Amino acid sequence: MTIIRKAVLPVAGLGTRVLPATKTIPKEMLPVFDRPAIQYVVDEAIEAGIEHFVFVTGRNKSSIDDYFDSSYELEATLQAKGKTAILEEVQRTRPKAGSMSFVRQQAPLGLGHAIWCARDIIGSDPFAILLPDVLVKSDKSCLAQMVDVYNQTGGNVIAVNPVPEDEVNKYGVIDPIERDGSKIRMRGMVEKPDVAAAPSNLAITGRYILKGEIFSLLEDQAAGAGGEIQLTDAMDRLMAEQDFFAVEFDGTPYDCGSKLGYLRATLAFAMHHDELGEAARDTIRSELDV
Ligand code: G1P
Repeated sequence: MTIIRKAVLPVAGLGTRVLPATKTIPKEMLPVFDRPAIQYVVDEAIEAGIEHFVFVTGRNKSSIDDYFDSSYELEATLQAKGKTAILEEVQRTRPKAGSMSFVRQQAPLGLGHAIWCARDIIGSDPFAILLPDVLVKSDKSCLAQMVDVYNQTGGNVIAVNPVPEDEVNKYGVIDPIERDGSKIRMRGMVEKPDVAAAPSNLAITGRYILKGEIFSLLEDQAAGAGGEIQLTDAMDRLMAEQDFFAVEFDGTPYDCGSKLGYLRATLAFAMHHDELGEAARDTIRSELDV
């Protein structure tokens, strides 16, 4: 079976729901406690075995490439001052040379179109997609849990999580048939359904393992919900041709695309930080007492 080595991270969005913070800073670069949101997503993917990252970017996103580059002056200064712990932390954010590609989505035509922009770099092998708006807190990386299901089944795999029934219209939602542990077979999926017409409350989390055939379906995918080319619509067609599974993973997703979701993520990752978690909890408690 082909090993999943490449991942696509669509980062072209304008971050309008988090303005004005995102006026000059990409939303993926906003700090979630002590590191940019994108670092959590890259770490999740590395834990799942991803070796090459394809960022689908847009204008004003160059700080993402800079973040993952080496920073000679910074590293030399930290070295000269003997600040080795923070130097190691900074060096850890620098991936192996040549392991990141950047391609531009030239017009905001939707998530399906953003993924299609990565087709030449991905080629025909199965690959992962991680939407950096969603951070997942879990013992085992969410994508690694999905890779386990891919290795068992050889099928396409998406992550899902239950959401309140009146919020299904914000997500892609699956139509489940039967469940085997955390693995769910589906008969379809729909992007941003009306609350009354939704087939379930299992929302697509923003993590995918897809076969290369998705690209030819995206090529002629008509615009769907919101007038955008939707990945969910192309996956719904791929499901007619290939095995497809949803995984209700162990972990908690945090949607950093909204201000309150972002606050929740920041609190959760601060409270569970290896070194500063306890101090962060004390800080939050004392703020609540004010
Ligand atoms: C996208 C996907 C949707 C998924 C969601 C997860 O929607 O299209 O299927 O449920 O991410 O966050 P967006 O949030 O970009 O509107």
